Amino acid sequence: MSSYVKVCTLAELEEDTPKRVELGDTPVSVVRTEGEVFAVYDICSHANVSLSEGEVEDCQIECWLHGSRFDLRTGKPSGLPATRPVPVYPVKIDGDDVLVSLTQES
Ligand code: FES
Repeated sequence: MSSYVKVCTLAELEEDTPKRVELGDTPVSVVRTEGEVFAVYDICSHANVSLSEGEVEDCQIECWLHGSRFDLRTGKPSGLPATRPVPVYPVKIDGDDVLVSLTQES
């Protein structure tokens, strides 16, 4: 069973500017882009770097350290040096509230 937790409001999310939130002990990067909101695990799969400090483009979030880009829909890296995906989490919008569940979609 998944449980959704409110992490912020839509108004707090600037387009293409990741917002780091904590769900319990789990850091999550919440991104509003292309009319949708996505949530991915905030730590790069290559090293201990916060993805929310990177840039968003073409529905991908870029790790600022070595430049791997992760698809916000699937968590998969599109290029080296990262080879493993980051977890992605389902998002629900309820009015102005953004809710995230730590239950992974895949
Ligand atoms: S730490 Fe993210 S690509 Fe190296």
